[in-house]
Amino acid sequence: MAEIGIDIKKAKSLLEQGELVAIPTETVYGLAANALDPTSVTKIFVAKERPTFDPLIVHVASVEQAIELTASMPDKARVLTNKFWPGPLTVVLPKKLVIPDIVTSGLNTVAIRCPNHDLTKQLLSSLDFPLAAPSANPFGYISPTTAQHVNDQLGNKIKYILDGGACKIGLESTIVGFENNEVVLYRRGSVSEEEIMNLVGPVKTRLVSNSNPTAPGQLEMHYAPRKTILLGDIDKLEKNIKDKKVGFLRFQHQGSPQKDALYLSKSGNLEEAARNLFAFLRQLDQMDVDLILAEMVPDVGIGKAINDRLIRAAASKK
Ligand code: TXA
Ligand code: MG
Repeated sequence: MAEIGIDIKKAKSLLEQGELVAIPTETVYGLAANALDPTSVTKIFVAKERPTFDPLIVHVASVEQAIELTASMPDKARVLTNKFWPGPLTVVLPKKLVIPDIVTSGLNTVAIRCPNHDLTKQLLSSLDFPLAAPSANPFGYISPTTAQHVNDQLGNKIKYILDGGACKIGLESTIVGFENNEVVLYRRGSVSEEEIMNLVGPVKTRLVSNSNPTAPGQLEMHYAPRKTILLGDIDKLEKNIKDKKVGFLRFQHQGSPQKDALYLSKSGNLEEAARNLFAFLRQLDQMDVDLILAEMVPDVGIGKAINDRLIRAAASKK
């Protein structure tokens, strides 16, 4: 198993030696390596068993560092990064040659974000290179929101996990690109489409790409527990199920608590639901149940990103 701790110097020294270190962010934990060194970055793909056609996000300490790594930054990108960085927004921009092809899967753009977590901010500022970091989970599985989640699945493949506690947001960052001066939403996250639109005008959405991974967004089968998830009206779904042990993922607590049910937010708070989502999916995956029944949450604000993850988790089992 990996060592878990808060030693930034140790994390820095391992990264400088070309090793992987898991890092906390406000969204989910990342599996980090020196983004400018192809040999280090290759270790990420190996540890995650991630196909090399799925590009990584590069984490920087500041907007200035992002500017050094990119060939240009459209005005709209500048407005968005000024507003949301450090924070849960990733921007896809034309890359400079210094970013190795393995990071971007050969694309001429790079996804960049400046995470908002004290430990990781200190780490990034102490390094003289940026960090490539996808979520620190085996490819296709649920993203980790605690150091323990990382250790459970990747602990035998990495030396050190920087422990920043439970992630405050709990869902991966919102990803946007800029095409012909238009903002395109590739992945939903806690920064909502409305917030982006209010700052930079109309936003196009292009969320799912399962046949052409060079078109960004994500593969449909993602964030998935190993057990089957059925998504819909839980009470109706339950009526058709016989001879199976069922676990329930509900949004809000109503009536008397149900056995084998987890409530994303008893009081119906969407931010709390987002924070709990991945940890609860993991818990249900480990419970003594054969099948998970889940319901969508209200489709507003971060609720849209939660529903996106639920749909993807359920889609992989069809
Ligand atoms: O919140 C997050 O974004 C977390 C934390 C660790 O920062 N990271 C994360 O990384 O979710 P990952 O690898 O699980 O998701 C990265 C996704 C890729 O699957 C791809 O869809 C998109 O970012 N991406 C990366 N580079 C891209 C590019 N050049 N063009 C379009 N999309 C890109
Ligand atoms: Mg991921």
